[in-house]
Amino acid sequence: MFAKNNYFLTTPIYYVNDKPHIGHAYTTILADVLARFHRTAGDEVFFLTGLDEHGLKVQQAADKKGITPQLHCDKMAPRFIDLWEKLHIQYDDFIRTTEKRHENVVQDILRNVYKKGDIYFDEYTGEYCVGCERFYTEKELVEGKCPQHDKPLETITEKNYFFKMSKYQQELIDYINDNPDFIQPKHRKNEILGFLRHPLDDLCISRPKSRLNWGIELPFNKDYVTYVWFDALINYITAPGYSSDDKSFNKWWPAVHLIGKDILMTHAVYWPTMLFSAGIPQPKTIFAHGWWLSGESKMSKSLGNVVNPLDLIDKYGVDPLRYYLMREMVLGQDASFTMESFIKRYNSDLANDFGNLFSRVSTLIAKNFENIIPEPGELTVVEIEVQKRAESVIKQVDNLINKMRINEAIEEILQFVRSINRYMEQQAPWNLVKTDKSAAARVLYTAAESLRISALLLQPVIPNRTKIILDIFDANGTELKWGILKSGTAIKKHSPLFPRIKVKEPVVDMVNVTAQEKLITYDEFQNIELRTALILEAEKIEGANRLLKLQIEVGDEKRQIVGGIAEHYQPEELVGKMIAIVSNLESTTIRGIESNGMLLAAKKGKDLSLIVIDSDKVESGAKIF
Ligand code: MSP
Repeated sequence: MFAKNNYFLTTPIYYVNDKPHIGHAYTTILADVLARFHRTAGDEVFFLTGLDEHGLKVQQAADKKGITPQLHCDKMAPRFIDLWEKLHIQYDDFIRTTEKRHENVVQDILRNVYKKGDIYFDEYTGEYCVGCERFYTEKELVEGKCPQHDKPLETITEKNYFFKMSKYQQELIDYINDNPDFIQPKHRKNEILGFLRHPLDDLCISRPKSRLNWGIELPFNKDYVTYVWFDALINYITAPGYSSDDKSFNKWWPAVHLIGKDILMTHAVYWPTMLFSAGIPQPKTIFAHGWWLSGESKMSKSLGNVVNPLDLIDKYGVDPLRYYLMREMVLGQDASFTMESFIKRYNSDLANDFGNLFSRVSTLIAKNFENIIPEPGELTVVEIEVQKRAESVIKQVDNLINKMRINEAIEEILQFVRSINRYMEQQAPWNLVKTDKSAAARVLYTAAESLRISALLLQPVIPNRTKIILDIFDANGTELKWGILKSGTAIKKHSPLFPRIKVKEPVVDMVNVTAQEKLITYDEFQNIELRTALILEAEKIEGANRLLKLQIEVGDEKRQIVGGIAEHYQPEELVGKMIAIVSNLESTTIRGIESNGMLLAAKKGKDLSLIVIDSDKVESGAKIF
């Protein structure tokens, strides 16, 4: 996979006052997934997260409780730390801005920037948002209100220290233009370049202690504390050891910063100009992802529409939540969180495609090969094709992860899993065992080896359940290349890994739907193509009590169709029946099995009857009016 590198990855440091929600969980899981991919590839990784603990809101919350701000922070911090543990986040350092190591670095930077003449004292009047803890310029306001909180701002006049941000405007523009990967995705880079077309203001970096006490004291004036953003951004260099004795800073810096788009300005304008002034190289990349929306609006504490990740973990487990968040969001764009799409994604990808393949393969090996992974013997062209596909998926995933296209990488793996389900269908090892046991062995080994590779590839996203699969195959920590799975390995017992989430689907009883309730136009009806079809073969589907798989003839064409009729018909009695189907449905996969069309049946209560053509004059493929 990747070349061996040092890889330093950061999340924003979250406000200690906030209750952790799905947005915080998302960025942190994203960082964890990237870190795990890089570790698997042999990179040395430093993954940093932590808490932003200074500022007015913390002071106010502590005052309200009648405790010191530090005690307040100490009481609040475990909520994040515990959640990260629950989500299996493997960070390498957890920084809190109230730590001494951080205070030292902030004061060092302030001293240097002050000495350089980039900080001056001045009186200032500005529009201040307590929520964001920052002043806004006139042009940033939306209808006179804070663009993040949609609330009026406070006009504040006071004497403060200013950082000469404007001095570095041109240098920043040049840097962004010369380094196309610096701000990502591209539309965010353009947003910042657009903003930089207007003259940049200097940045107010102090707060008088008379108004705000809870912050890092300015080294050149003890009546002031440092503005919380100037303090917080510096965490990214404190943790890898800036201005400390050890040499680790040069080993790790520059970092890849993962952030949400809400804090792009502070990261792509404040932070780079601070680094220019302090003479520190720029970060490698600032990557801004989109928001998780609830309906149309951002999830946020102040809007009161947050999804609590703990509820989802308790109900469905950690892996399904990690999988959903990584698969569903196109990095850089917004995504909508709904329980419906969560369940749908889980059932189709994890329960159906991945889980089903795993349980089929392990059950067949258990049943026919005494629980021992069989020898593959000589591979045929079909297996060599599977092997080539596996090798190409490994490369593709590497490529996509390097471009941070995680959702596409996951889809690539799932496409491979689906293709193995099809391979199983075509080869039908459950039949082969009766006639050609060595062929069945070859197919099952090939499917199991494909599963091992898929599990390894998915491990950074769903580390817990893939570990179980890999343990069962005795393949944890094995190499990501074809042909590593050991024949002769005894498969351990296991319970279903991805049980389907049962949802009470709204049952539409077609018999009782009256014409008034469901009026459609003639044209709409014309869009549905109904045809006769002759059943050639029918068989039960292992592990699916209600389903039968049918091979049918529709005129000149042969098709496979899956129907939920197993409780009503024996496979033998179906062969030779002429039935009615919807023939122009998109093909779909049910329990990993392709289905092309839908058979028509009448159902009331527990009784079901297929619609059968009652004359042998009509051949298959005839149009039904
Ligand atoms: N403390 C600052 C960051 C300082 S970094 C030097 C801060 N903290 S925060 O608690 O508000 O967290 C902001 C981050 O949480 C966002 O950048 C984003 O990573 C994540 N999210 C918060 N809400 C979110 C969504 N609704 N959707 C996705 N992620 C969002 O800002």
